[in-house]
Amino acid sequence: MKVALFSAKSYERSFFSAANAPFGHEITYLEPRLTPETAPLAEHFPAVCIFVNDQVDADLMAQLAQGGTQLLALRSAGFNHVDLNAAEDLGLTVVRVPAYSPFAVAEHAVALILTLNRKTHRAYARVREGNFDLEGLLGFDIHGLTMGVVGTGKIGIEVARIMHGFGCQLLGYDPYPNPEAEKLGLHYVELDTLLAQSDIISLHSPLTPETYHLINADAINRLKPGAMLINTSRGALVDAAAAIEGLKSGQIGYLGLDVYEEEADLFFEDLSDRIIQDDIFARLLTFPNVVITGHQAFFTRNALRAIAETTLANIRDFEQTGQCANAIKSAHVTKS
Ligand code: NAI
Repeated sequence: MKVALFSAKSYERSFFSAANAPFGHEITYLEPRLTPETAPLAEHFPAVCIFVNDQVDADLMAQLAQGGTQLLALRSAGFNHVDLNAAEDLGLTVVRVPAYSPFAVAEHAVALILTLNRKTHRAYARVREGNFDLEGLLGFDIHGLTMGVVGTGKIGIEVARIMHGFGCQLLGYDPYPNPEAEKLGLHYVELDTLLAQSDIISLHSPLTPETYHLINADAINRLKPGAMLINTSRGALVDAAAAIEGLKSGQIGYLGLDVYEEEADLFFEDLSDRIIQDDIFARLLTFPNVVITGHQAFFTRNALRAIAETTLANIRDFEQTGQCANAIKSAHVTKS
């Protein structure tokens, strides 16, 4: 099938080209993000393949449909960046990669926890400068602490498993409890209880209208003072302006982010010569107890291989049958 692959990075091309051998799709790699301005590049391609910061609203969906797009293949698990209702109305099929490597994201969440705690990022810089002073590097034992996991699906359960291995007590909040988590000894509680009792909280629920700004000023006030908050899910789960206030008051003791609500204009590009215009993001960067990575939690070779293989298989299934097991359904029920 002819595929226009937007937001194509060199690191992805090699995985897609290698995985495409048995499929034989005609892939055109396009470096720009998919926007109303770049959408004409997709004309006459029946399949368009996008990543997390290619935002497809109703107007852009209509533009794609008019250009002949039949299939929108997401190279991601999350689909909050796509207007599914518009896709359904226009007869476009949207497919995704529901699971590629939950371990990649879970392990990155734990990397943020360990970095924030033991300050390895600061220690690394100091030692390279010949500064072996330990002042400011004091950490704590994770063993015995209470870990709160919000969203105990594929990724959340792996975080719970790792933190169980560290010797943490596990609390969870999820409208659909996972029996595997309960087997680990995780206790499901209301969100307020999780917020109040956890020393470390990690977010792994999808972005939906219900989870938008789940961590807002009110939730931050309910935290155990000095708690650690980790978000590797979607940026808009956290109200970043409220998080700044929480950091200033000390209510948030540590903040680890791999995602940011306004990341679309920042992440995945080298902006090191530019002035960052987003003052909230810039303020977050100033805190010594904040570590931000640029949406790289998924970024392992295992995950990239699985993303390429599943995406290409999704496209083949659609081409051969007009259907795909990884199609996102129930568009008119919920936009998530
Ligand atoms: P999943 O669908 O397996 O698990 C999500 C869990 O969240 C489910 O158990 C669901 O019941 C729960 N949930 C739904 N609504 C909730 C609510 N209101 N409050 C609490 N929990 C709720 O998804 P998976 O694979 O674990 O991924 C989770 C999220 O991680 C994705 O939605 C995506 O946004 C994000 N993600 C981030 C990546 C990164 O590179 N930073 C890579 C892959 C996924």
